[in-house]
Amino acid sequence: MKLKNLKLEINQHVAVITFNRPDQLNALNLETLAELKQLLEKIEKDAVLRCIVLTGAGKAFVAGADIKAMSEMNPKQAKAFAETGQALFSYMEQMPQPIIACINGFALGGGCELACACDLRTASTKIKIGEPEVNLGIVPGFAGSVRLPRLIGLSQAKKMILTGEPLSALEAEEIGLIHWIYKPEELLPNTLKIAERLAAKSLTALATIKHQLRKSLELEFTEAEKFEAETFSKCFTTPDQKEGMNAFLEKRKPKFEGLD
Ligand code: HXC
Repeated sequence: MKLKNLKLEINQHVAVITFNRPDQLNALNLETLAELKQLLEKIEKDAVLRCIVLTGAGKAFVAGADIKAMSEMNPKQAKAFAETGQALFSYMEQMPQPIIACINGFALGGGCELACACDLRTASTKIKIGEPEVNLGIVPGFAGSVRLPRLIGLSQAKKMILTGEPLSALEAEEIGLIHWIYKPEELLPNTLKIAERLAAKSLTALATIKHQLRKSLELEFTEAEKFEAETFSKCFTTPDQKEGMNAFLEKRKPKFEGLD
């Protein structure tokens, strides 16, 4: 697949996707969203790839949706643009592979919303992460108003979205928006180590956990419990459950399906 706005590197079982429009701070336009969707669909079907890392070239992770492109949109086009990003980010949440946002710089607006749709977030000490849409006279459109309150609570989400003021890495870590912080030069190597640790786990279990957690937010408590018991019992039909438990009892490392 020929890539224009993205770069793909494969590191054993880990796919590293880099947003690669550094001159525009990797701002998201329709073309980039379409390219990412196509690439993720290919990765989803690739049995070798068990974890995905998203990062950005240059000084930004993603500085938001493309303001130049948005400035020319009418309401109908704006709605379609928002829906395209929303569908892509929901697709990411429903993919079996865990996705790590490796936030190397500015993660603003659509870039923050993209990071929120990833399963885990690492960041360099130098980042700024925020929802500055209000400063452009608009509101979040790639599900920032939906995911942020679920991730960090309504109170912190209101602060970020109403003020539009970005957070430092430390501030974002304090409220649980970022999971790990590293020095800039140590960010990617350490993120890859986390990705490799995830890639060595049971992909069936990881995919089920992603599904369980997303569902748990949609369902009422007792329904969510029922769903959990069902997904738990389904694990007992899988080779990975047998292998994981046998490996523990035999005091060896498990070798889950699909690993060489
Ligand atoms: C298009 C962008 C851009 C963006 C930066 N650029 N962000 N182009 N869309 N979101 C371009 C600049 O125009 C400039 O191009 C080049 O990238 C470098 O940016 P500078 O501003 O010169 O860099 P710097 O001074 O370091 O400032 C960095 C910055 C600033 C603080 C990140 O660029 C900034 O505030 N960007 C906008 C951030 C933002 O508001 N994001 C939210 C967008 S709304 P030229 O050609 O001049 O060199 C959004 C909605 C999501 O994301 C939902 C949609 C449905």
